[in-house]
Amino acid sequence: EQIKKGSYDHFMQKEIHEQPHSLTTTMRGRVKDSGVLLGGLKEKEYLKTIRRSRRLVFIGCGTSYNAALAARPFVEELTGIPVTMEVASDLLDRQGPIYREDTAVFVSQSGETADTLLALDYALENGALCVGITNTVGSTLSRRTHCGVHINAGCEIGVASTKAYTSQIVVMVMVALAVGSDQISTQVRRQAIIGGLSNLPSNVSEVLKLDTEMKELASSLIDSESLLVFGRGYNYATALEGALKVKEVALMHSEGMLAGEMKHGPLALVDENLPIIVIATRDACFSKQQSVIQQLLSRKGRLIVMCSKGDASAVCPSGSCRVIEVPEVADCLQPVINIIPLQLLAYHLTVLRGFDVDQPRNLAKSVTTQ
Ligand code: AGP
Repeated sequence: EQIKKGSYDHFMQKEIHEQPHSLTTTMRGRVKDSGVLLGGLKEKEYLKTIRRSRRLVFIGCGTSYNAALAARPFVEELTGIPVTMEVASDLLDRQGPIYREDTAVFVSQSGETADTLLALDYALENGALCVGITNTVGSTLSRRTHCGVHINAGCEIGVASTKAYTSQIVVMVMVALAVGSDQISTQVRRQAIIGGLSNLPSNVSEVLKLDTEMKELASSLIDSESLLVFGRGYNYATALEGALKVKEVALMHSEGMLAGEMKHGPLALVDENLPIIVIATRDACFSKQQSVIQQLLSRKGRLIVMCSKGDASAVCPSGSCRVIEVPEVADCLQPVINIIPLQLLAYHLTVLRGFDVDQPRNLAKSVTTQ
């Protein structure tokens, strides 16, 4: 086992640091200057069927659900097709409507999650086109879906999913580029994102340099009882996923929250003790996040702000927040960058709190029972 971990102490740590490589293999042979080529969607004109769909339904659990949520804004923008989000168990509990005119997109690292597979059976019975996005070649998900894309992130061993999350987002961005490739009006935007994908592994290497800074941050949070993470837009999913990592491995209560909902309840929790991470990197929501930060500071909030490089004084003019500066990339790829400091934070918090990183209490890598 130690040989497989190489110079790392834990699989989670290794898998976090592997991301420049795993993202490269996810994109290998698929991202060209001229566009994106996804072999798994080429046959039988699946792309055309997806384009004609009345709705895309993204279905998954845990981190895989969060990856789909991160991709949703870009998929809607590039395809013009509305996207509905479904946690697999909730879709089953409600027996929510799925139609023949829907494309159901199933996201699962293992391809063996019981709820996701049952939701797949349900969508197949209801006549939807079923697309699988998984890391596991030959898994039940890849065998039972009509078509799909493997994320090719390499074997993930740590129970906490890290490199699969970033590869899932990238695959969904590539799917959006492929589905939207017939639209002339989005050509310039598509080209910009393709350029951004090519540079993504080097930007990920850059953000991984925050490791020591995240360890220091973790040591300042070690005794906290709770940690809130506020995000919105592309980075609402980052808030949910960052909080999921913290609670899953560091065994600390943590909640990801939609910053737009702050005044509708969460604001009551704010005081000088509760640590709050606010994600405020550059995108269309930036000025709204600046005002969220001001409102939190006026309630004496203990803030840690994640911002784009060079933006420290723009997000926190008073200098009273702790700031994490990350490289700025295309808005729809920013969640891939922004989750990495939070993965590092969760990892270091776990080690410092003395918990089992790779095998968290009560959890299994793949949840194969309901
Ligand atoms: C991720 O850190 C979790 N271990 C968990 O939420 C996981 O993502 C979920 O169980 C879904 O697994 P899957 O991707 O294999 O379907």
